[in-house]
Amino acid sequence: MPKPKVDGIPEGRGVLVRVIRVGVDGTDKEINAAEYGAALPGDDYLIIGHESFGVVEEIGPNVTELKAGDFVSATVRRPGSSFYDLIGTYDMTTGDVYYERGINLRHGYLAEYFVDDPEYIVKIPNACYASGVVMEPMSIAQKGIVQAYEIQRRLKIWQPQKAAVMGAGTLRLCGLELTVFGRKIPPYKNSELIEELGGRYISTKQMPISEAAQKYGPFDLIFEATGNSLVAFESAENLGKNGVLILTSITGGGQTLEIAADKINLEFVLGNKVMFGTVNANREYFESGAKDLAQAVSRYHGWLNKLLTHPVKGLENYQQMMDLLTTAKDAIKVYVDVSAK
Ligand code: BGC
Ligand code: ZN
Repeated sequence: MPKPKVDGIPEGRGVLVRVIRVGVDGTDKEINAAEYGAALPGDDYLIIGHESFGVVEEIGPNVTELKAGDFVSATVRRPGSSFYDLIGTYDMTTGDVYYERGINLRHGYLAEYFVDDPEYIVKIPNACYASGVVMEPMSIAQKGIVQAYEIQRRLKIWQPQKAAVMGAGTLRLCGLELTVFGRKIPPYKNSELIEELGGRYISTKQMPISEAAQKYGPFDLIFEATGNSLVAFESAENLGKNGVLILTSITGGGQTLEIAADKINLEFVLGNKVMFGTVNANREYFESGAKDLAQAVSRYHGWLNKLLTHPVKGLENYQQMMDLLTTAKDAIKVYVDVSAK
């Protein structure tokens, strides 16, 4: 690929970013297996990578928001043409087609450089250098939680006490008593990391979700991120009264299930419960996410870095990256060190 140029973006608004690190996730795994995503029309390849962290190297004459040397991450989705897209909320598009860098119809960040408009590039505090690569996944959690609180304003005086996270991708919810569900029997790295933050880890092999909900619930908020639609409906079944369930799993398969439909429906109605889906994150959630990231870095020194379990050195070790992504069972985050600080 030719090196992208600042003047590749119109009106002097280009920001050239040298990529330092890129994280990979289940979406990349699915793209590599040709189960999800699409290349640009006319190209027979897609540069993947949507979890970016880099440093600004050069800016166009009309860029005032950023300067060379700033650490940054970039949003993933680019606007289509629905009204939501036009007001900066491209994560809420109603268009049938969506554009996502590194995923769908746009090249991504797993490259030496990328260029984009500052509208899509978010500054990351210097103190977050070591864990800056978690910015994009963090923005997804950020959006889900912010929207859940927004929705719960319907209750006027909602004060959630207990939260559950499905999938041991670790997450700390400010001030809430946290229970995290995973399959694996503890102790292992993820359960220890959760306990380090004062959370409780439950293996569903040792205690079904319903029993844990009896014992440790009621869950006012559940964040579902397992990638398994069965767990999504089990979560619905175990949500507390007036509770909110955040669905974030991308389930590309065709699984059909038997669920306790009458029970779930009845309890949703009688319990005034809400379940909603959320995807992607616009600039707003990257910005508030960056602030929370900085807080997390100062409050839980070094904890975030422990999520970065599987480094890969250099773009040339692409195959090793894919192998780790598909086979490393203990991986929390596989990432590629593209260039030095
Ligand atoms: C990405 C999101 C994206 C979603 C659906 C996730 O892995 O982090 O930015 O919107 O996949 O393509
Ligand atoms: Zn992702």
